[in-house]
Order: sequence, then structure tokens, then C-alpha cells
Amino acid sequence: MTQMPQHILDRMKAWIDEGVAEPGLLEPTAMVLATVGVDGMPAARVVLLKALDAQGLVFYTNYQSNKGRDLAANPRAALCFHWDALRRQLRVQGDVVQISQAESDAYFASRAVGSQIGAWASEQSRPLDRYETLIGRASVFAEQFEGGPVPRPPHWGGYRVIPNRVEFWSSKDDRLHQRDLHVRGGDGWTESSLFP
Ligand SMILES: Cc1cc2nc3c(=O)[nH]c(=O)nc-3n(C[C@H](O)[C@H](O)[C@H](O)COP(=O)(O)O)c2cc1C
Repeated sequence: MTQMPQHILDRMKAWIDEGVAEPGLLEPTAMVLATVGVDGMPAARVVLLKALDAQGLVFYTNYQSNKGRDLAANPRAALCFHWDALRRQLRVQGDVVQISQAESDAYFASRAVGSQIGAWASEQSRPLDRYETLIGRASVFAEQFEGGPVPRPPHWGGYRVIPNRVEFWSSKDDRLHQRDLHVRGGDGWTESSLFP
């Protein structure tokens, strides 16, 4: 079974929706993405969740960035959401695939023009001599694509994390927190609890 069972997906969606509805949270869809490079060194950074369904969790980035390089060599990742106002953490581990070009195109087309230009201007994770160079590149691409739709850069698109391990962590009194674990097995998912 490759898809997440409906009840896990529903709970994940409910937690994200409750995070979005929480006035104190500025980036409720932010998740820490951990990857591992060819040298075995882990790296973590924040990305935004842009789509969620039974197949997995989608974020967008530059395929030539450091995370892109990590994922090309080792297509597995861990994700971690933390909604502090809700005292909740959601952890996901899984395999990672690039989403279809059509799906990336559709999302890219929905972005603000400034963000589209930014995707062209940024050679994400590469050294930048000075900030003005980035601004200059953005101006050049803005001029190049003026008056027409901005095409998606070929090196920019989405990844889907296909969960094989999901853990819901809820804070409880006296540090007696609740941890509900779901793990994908050979022919389905198993559920268990963990000591906090
Ligand atoms: C709140 C927040 C949201 C971010 N969202 C994204 C995102 O969706 N995609 C992305 O590529 N970088 C995003 N970033 C920037 C990344 O954290 C990171 O700096 C960048 O992707 C380069 O990472 P890398 O060099 O490890 O590839 C975000 C940063 C923050 C603080």
C-alpha cells in the first residue's frame, strides 16, 4: 500500500488546519526538512508545505540547491512541524520523488510574478559575491519576461515526501506527552504508542 491511510491523512490535515487557524502562528505550514548528503552529513532547513494528500507532502525548491543535491544522492528525508501555540509536533520520514512537470508548472503559474522572477534570479545555495548581484539578476529576468507569462525555470519544482513513518506528538501535563506512531510495513500500516 503506497498511500497513507485516510485516518492518518485526516489527522495530519486537521493539525495543519488548526495551525493555520491559530492567530499566533506566522508560518503554520513551515516544516523543517532534513536531508543527508553523500558524505553522510545531515542538513536541516525550513520549507513550506504546499500540498498534502494520501500520496504525501509537497514542497517546492531549486533542484540544484544543496537540498536538491542531497536528494539526488539520497532520496529520503525527514520533516518536522512544530506548532508551539498548539503544543504539537508532527514528524514524518519517507522516500522523496520529484513531482510531475505538469504539477510544478501549475503551482509555479499560481505564484506572484515577483516570486517567479525570484526563482530565476536565485542560484539557490551557490555563493553570492554581494547582495546587489541578486537584485541585478532579478532586474534582468524581470526585463526579459516583461509583458508575458514567466515560464517555470527547469531547475525549479516540487518534491513529494512519501511517508513511511508518521508521529503525532501532543504535549500533556507533567511531561506525560502523547506520541502516536504510524509505520508503513510490508502490507499496510501499523500503529503504536511511544513513551515520551
Ligand atoms: C519560513 C521559511 C520558509 C521557507 N520556505 C522555503 C521553501 O518553501 N522552499 C525553499 O527552497 N526554501 C525555503 N526557505 C529557505 C530554506 O530554509 C533554505 O534557506 C533554502 O531552501 C536553501 O537551503 P539549502 O541550501 O539547504 O538547499 C524557507 C525559509 C524559511 C525561514
